[in-house]
Order: sequence, then C-alpha cells, then structure tokens
Amino acid sequence: MRFLTPLAASAALVAASGLVLAHGKHGHGKAIDYRTSVMTVFTWNLRPMGAMAKGKTPYDKALFARHARDLNAAAHLDLLPGFPDGSDEGDTEARPDIWLDWDGFTEKYAALKQATEALAAAAGGDLTSSVKDKLGKVGDACKSCHRAYRER
Ligand code: HEC
Repeated sequence: MRFLTPLAASAALVAASGLVLAHGKHGHGKAIDYRTSVMTVFTWNLRPMGAMAKGKTPYDKALFARHARDLNAAAHLDLLPGFPDGSDEGDTEARPDIWLDWDGFTEKYAALKQATEALAAAAGGDLTSSVKDKLGKVGDACKSCHRAYRER
C-alpha cells in the first residue's frame, strides 16, 4: 500500500470486497455451488422421466432407465458436506432450519435415496403404474425437503 495513493488503495479494497462477495459472503460460495450443482443433476434426470410418465414425450425404456440410474447415483453423492454450518448466508435459498433441525434434514435426504433406489430397481421395462408411482415418490421426496428447508 506504500506506493498507492489513498484513492487507489480504496479502489483496491472495493475490488477485493467484491471478490469476497462473489464467492459468498462468508466464504461458503464453493459449498453452495456444489449443492446447487448436484440439484441441477437431479433435475436434469428427473424432468425427462416426468415428461415420459405424463405422455409429453414418447416412452423410451432405455432412456428412462438411464435417467433413473443416474438420478439414483447422484442421490448417493454425499451432499451433506455441501451444507457447512452458516452457509444459509450468501447467494442461497437454503433456510437456517437446516442447521436447527439437522436430523430432520438428513432424514429427508435419506428418504430421497430410498425413493431413487426403488425407482432405479423398477425401471427398464414397461411404464407401469408401479413405475409411475415410484417416480411420483421421488418427486414427493424432492418437494418435501424443499417445502421444509428451501426459501421460495
Ligand atoms: C434433503 C433436502 C433436499 C432434497 C431431498 C432435494 N433438495 Fe433440491 N434443494 C434443497 C435445498 C436446501 C436447496 C437450496 C440450495 C441453495 O440455494 O443453496 C435446493 C435447491 C434445488 C434447486 C435449485 C438449484 C439452484 O441452482 O439454485 C433445484 C433445481 C433442486 N433443488 C432440485 C431438486 C430435485 C429435482 C430433487 C429431487 C430429485 C431435490 N432437489 C431434492 C434441498 C433438497
């Protein structure tokens, strides 16, 4: 700072604080990126299955099975390190209730894994009402957690 004019020094400070903001107010930007990226992978796989189940796109059993398998694999990533303490601050929709009720939050995550396992095991054949039911249960597992722990 010795060679900087006061004006240049304060400009440097403003630039540095902008950088901090861009990476999350409390340094949790990478964790927030991780968890929202995993959620993006969830949606990427869930949406086409939903479209097939509703008859909006033709049923392709191999494609459906692949999405069911990948969604199950993604659900089994360890998402919890993506929710470090205090990471309800910053550019995030995570509610503080996650850390106030950590057991409840992890139960919702476990319920998702069970639902995606059941769907992956059932996929690959005809689009029966049982398969649709299992897909519905996956969607319910997403919504149930979002209702409790995500801002909207
Ligand atoms: C255990 C709780 C939980 C489960 C289960 C869950 N989510 Fe989320 N989801 C969250 C939370 C919390 C956020 C907010 C994260 C943030 O903004 O930091 C979120 C955010 C999202 C987002 C927004 C991502 C972004 O870019 O901001 C999408 C999309 C999403 N979830 C899809 C899904 C889908 C699809 C499923 C089911 C297959 C699912 N989620 C299951 C807790 C959950």
